[in-house]
Amino acid sequence: MAVFRSLAALLVSVSINHVAAQTAANSTYDVLQYVDQLIGSSNGGNVFPGATLPYGMAKAVADTDSGSNQGGFTTDGSNITGFSSMHDSGTGGSPSLGNFALFPYAECVGDEVDGCVYPKISRKITFDNSSVKASPGYFGVTLDSGVSVDMTTTQHTSLFRFRFPAVDTSGNASSPLILMDLSDLSDSRQDNGTITVDTGTGRITGNARFLPSFGTGTYVAYFCADFSGAPLRDNGIFVNSRASTDVKTLTISRSINGYPLPGGAFNRFQSASDPILARVGVSLISSEQACSSAESEIPSFDFESVQTAAETVWREKISPITVSTTGVEESILTNFYSGIYRTMVNPQNYTGENPLWQSSEPYFDSFYCIWDLFRSQMPFLTVLDPATIAEQIRSLIDTYEHLGWLPDCRMSLNKGYTQGGSNADNVLGDAYLKGITAGIDWEGGYAAVVKDAEVEPYDWCCEGRGGLDSWKALGYIPVQDFDYKGFGTMTRSLSRTLEYSYNDFVIAQIASGLGGKEADEEKYISRSSNWKNLFLATQTSSFANGTATGFEGFFQPRYLNKTFGFQDPLKCSNIDTDPNSVCSLQNTGAETFESSIWEYSFFVPHDQATLITTFGGPAAFVERLNFLHDQDITYIGNEPAFLTVFQYHYAGRPALSALRSHFYIPAFFSPTDAGLPGNDDSGAMGSFLAFSMMGLFPNPGQNVYLIIPPYFESVSITSPLTGKTATIRNVNFDPTYKNVYIQSATLDGKPYTKNWIDHSFFTEGKQLVLTLGAGESSWGTAVRDLPPSLGTYEGFGNSTGNSTGNSTAASKYRRRAARFAEVDLYSEHASTLSKTGGAFWADSEGK
Ligand SMILES: *[C@@H]1O[C@H](CO)[C@@H](O)[C@H](O)[C@H]1NC(C)=O
Ligand SMILES: *[C@@H]1O[C@H](CO)[C@@H](O)[C@H](O)[C@H]1NC(C)=O
Ligand SMILES: *[C@@H]1O[C@H](CO)[C@@H](O)[C@H](O)[C@H]1NC(C)=O
Ligand SMILES: *[C@@H]1O[C@H](CO)[C@@H](O)[C@H](O)[C@H]1NC(C)=O
Ligand SMILES: *[C@@H]1O[C@H](CO)[C@@H](O)[C@H](O)[C@H]1NC(C)=O
Ligand SMILES: *[C@@H]1O[C@H](CO)[C@@H](O)[C@H](O)[C@H]1NC(C)=O
Ligand SMILES: *[C@@H]1O[C@H](CO)[C@@H](O)[C@H](O)[C@H]1NC(C)=O
Ligand SMILES: *[C@@H]1O[C@H](CO)[C@@H](O)[C@H](O)[C@H]1NC(C)=O
Ligand SMILES: *[C@@H]1O[C@H](CO)[C@@H](O)[C@H](O)[C@H]1NC(C)=O
Ligand SMILES: *[C@@H]1O[C@H](CO)[C@@H](O)[C@H](O)[C@H]1NC(C)=O
Ligand SMILES: *[C@@H]1O[C@H](CO)[C@@H](O)[C@H](O)[C@H]1NC(C)=O
Repeated sequence: MAVFRSLAALLVSVSINHVAAQTAANSTYDVLQYVDQLIGSSNGGNVFPGATLPYGMAKAVADTDSGSNQGGFTTDGSNITGFSSMHDSGTGGSPSLGNFALFPYAECVGDEVDGCVYPKISRKITFDNSSVKASPGYFGVTLDSGVSVDMTTTQHTSLFRFRFPAVDTSGNASSPLILMDLSDLSDSRQDNGTITVDTGTGRITGNARFLPSFGTGTYVAYFCADFSGAPLRDNGIFVNSRASTDVKTLTISRSINGYPLPGGAFNRFQSASDPILARVGVSLISSEQACSSAESEIPSFDFESVQTAAETVWREKISPITVSTTGVEESILTNFYSGIYRTMVNPQNYTGENPLWQSSEPYFDSFYCIWDLFRSQMPFLTVLDPATIAEQIRSLIDTYEHLGWLPDCRMSLNKGYTQGGSNADNVLGDAYLKGITAGIDWEGGYAAVVKDAEVEPYDWCCEGRGGLDSWKALGYIPVQDFDYKGFGTMTRSLSRTLEYSYNDFVIAQIASGLGGKEADEEKYISRSSNWKNLFLATQTSSFANGTATGFEGFFQPRYLNKTFGFQDPLKCSNIDTDPNSVCSLQNTGAETFESSIWEYSFFVPHDQATLITTFGGPAAFVERLNFLHDQDITYIGNEPAFLTVFQYHYAGRPALSALRSHFYIPAFFSPTDAGLPGNDDSGAMGSFLAFSMMGLFPNPGQNVYLIIPPYFESVSITSPLTGKTATIRNVNFDPTYKNVYIQSATLDGKPYTKNWIDHSFFTEGKQLVLTLGAGESSWGTAVRDLPPSLGTYEGFGNSTGNSTGNSTAASKYRRRAARFAEVDLYSEHASTLSKTGGAFWADSEGK
């Protein structure tokens, strides 16, 4: 705890003066040239590759019928079904949003409106791969019908430009028809969607109720579409495959026999000689608001000026980070800047578009999910866009004020499913410790995180934590818990215990910083050690073929009566081939969420010192970490893997973190359409790239960045808050990345041996110079150089952590491990409850 008291003292108090970013002129290249939005558009990256502003609500792109079209467009050979204006990026779950697709025809067969094809399922069309063009604020593609479509956006409005062939293949003059489909990507429209087309102006307005893609409830979205560029010929509505110019308004049922009923409106135009522009405003309040946003944001249908304005905003956002391009392959730059770009696509700024409550606070949505975002995406925004992270945090706190709880996942105005801990606690703690203050009510924020820790929601599917009585009485979340106060999927007891432990640690830090909360601080520091209660020193682990891994001592699930249960430490790992393993939110899911006990073994971000001792000292810890990576037990395509790449730092081997980072980048992250190892999860993968390549990786929820050499000769980051520029420079930089070993370092000219640095590096614009060499050195290896940890580092030599085993330490570890197992956790409460607990659990899980 002493260590963390001094950490709190490091808390930087940053003035709220916003100094305009001054770096754009400093860079000798345009950062936007290195943004490739199509990275992650196939192979399950699920990115949104279209046109958007940073955090924009209007996100325009072509939608495909791919099974992996969560982000709208894909480059996996699927066909285009339309062009819609709302999307999420990188998400798993069902496809999100994709509301209100336009679809163009140069003409209808026989010049009859019924000669055009309306249902999404049959109108889908192939396109020319080489015609796809994407750049910040822009997306374009040419359909195999010869119609080319490009698009750009403002905050709430998309502007589509359709170019039609002037004559069709039989030589007839074109009479284009553009339809507006009252649907979304996952055909979730509920009953009574409505749409109206104005006979004279062709304005189409409408709304419908839809389902969020990974949560509860419904949402209503509205739009307002205006057209320009060619005289209107006629218009009307369509239902299923038939259309009429006599009818102008439609209210439509959800489906027939489960078949989602196509419905919408259309405009037909007299000529195709000029491009036809469609301006689509979107709103979550009303069609009127969609219209007024569209009118004010894009008054004159000027495509180029909207696109240029979007590029300018993106350039301003990204250019505070500049690098030396000397000797570095373009693919490295593209990987880096595209990753940075993706950190600002989601969450989305819906300020002024929240129908759920009245507030003067900002409202952000698409925190999808915070379990993914807390690890590096939101910490990255704290560096590059602190004004926005402040607004996002205000929005999280305001959500707590009005709905009672911080979200753990939120999309489309609804509560998303909680994956483990109450991870907004980590987000708040991270920003708090890094001095983010602008407009944030930190006492309100503190009340919100304390509620997570103390009060169990009746339905903890989607907020807060489950099992709090057991958590407080037993010090862990039991497998087959008895919980009559709140209800949720009673799986993941092991990963929830680890995550709740860390959440409580972060809460303690906020308490420490705010002051006057000593009792709270002590309580949460104490609960933050609950992870120890699931450690079973005698637990071994073998591969599926029976061969022992050779490692002993793992976390295990534990019953209410404190007897340990059993889960194979490799279950739900990347090498688990058991078809019966169920690893997500299913009722029959494992005691770890989306990962193995092997990987969760390392998730004690606040007390690596004690964890290292628990695992037998630094050498044994390093061996175990190597095994995790080298045997493919971990999967870098899912977020729990991120920190494990850099945890060598805590064992006094920062060089191995650098090596491991290069092991994954670019082998698992390449700047190609299929280049992401998993769902981007908003911009989580992007932020992993950005931080890793910058040479600093956060331990999120702490004021700590772990240092490795940047992938460039130098990196400069200008703080948008202070206007000061921090620089990391590699002396002896080797663009082949063989010399990734730091031999020595200076900070602002003075020798620096710590293998980590705090956030003042960015806000105070410090200069870190790293001298690299061909072999591992003693830099950053001494105990005094290691990052802060709640417990004490033991078993290290006095000048290096590079010890190769230490029998004194190992025996001490065994004693300590045994002690964990012996802690008397038994209580009256537990013994009473356990008798009925098993039966309750069996019923609720349908076993
Ligand atoms: C930016 O400009 C400053 C001042 O001229 C200079 O010291 C610095 O090296 C420049 N950074 C880059 C990345 O060129
Ligand atoms: C376009 O690219 C995708 C992915 O590489 C491929 O599956 C598809 O066949 C290509 N289509 C054409 C027409 O070449
Ligand atoms: C795309 O549409 C074409 C033409 O209808 C069809 O031949 C092809 O199989 C479709 N591609 C996919 C991936 O469904
Ligand atoms: C072209 O126009 C002729 C005469 O109006 C019509 O009969 C024919 O169906 C049209 N072709 C198509 C493909 O619409
Ligand atoms: C749809 O509208 C009809 C007629 O107004 C009404 O009876 C029905 O309850 C509505 N359905 C829903 C889900 O609102
Ligand atoms: C969010 O949107 C509101 C309203 O449009 C705007 O005032 C605010 O500046 C936006 N915030 C960010 C970070 O873009
Ligand atoms: C068992 O599997 C592990 C991991 O794949 C492998 O290293 C080991 O050689 C295998 N043992 C045998 C006896 O096949
Ligand atoms: C504790 O509970 C588990 C699960 O109900 C049971 O299998 C085990 O035998 C119990 N242990 C003791 C010591 O009663
Ligand atoms: C650290 O350990 C590694 C592997 O055992 C060894 O190669 C390296 O030389 C050691 N470095 C120092 C400074 O002792
Ligand atoms: C071994 O570990 C003990 C206990 O942590 C420590 O006092 C001792 O200095 C270590 N010995 C070596 C050779 O690193
Ligand atoms: C390390 O140990 C040596 C010999 O025991 C001692 O002289 C030296 O001062 C110690 N260094 C530190 C940093 O504690």
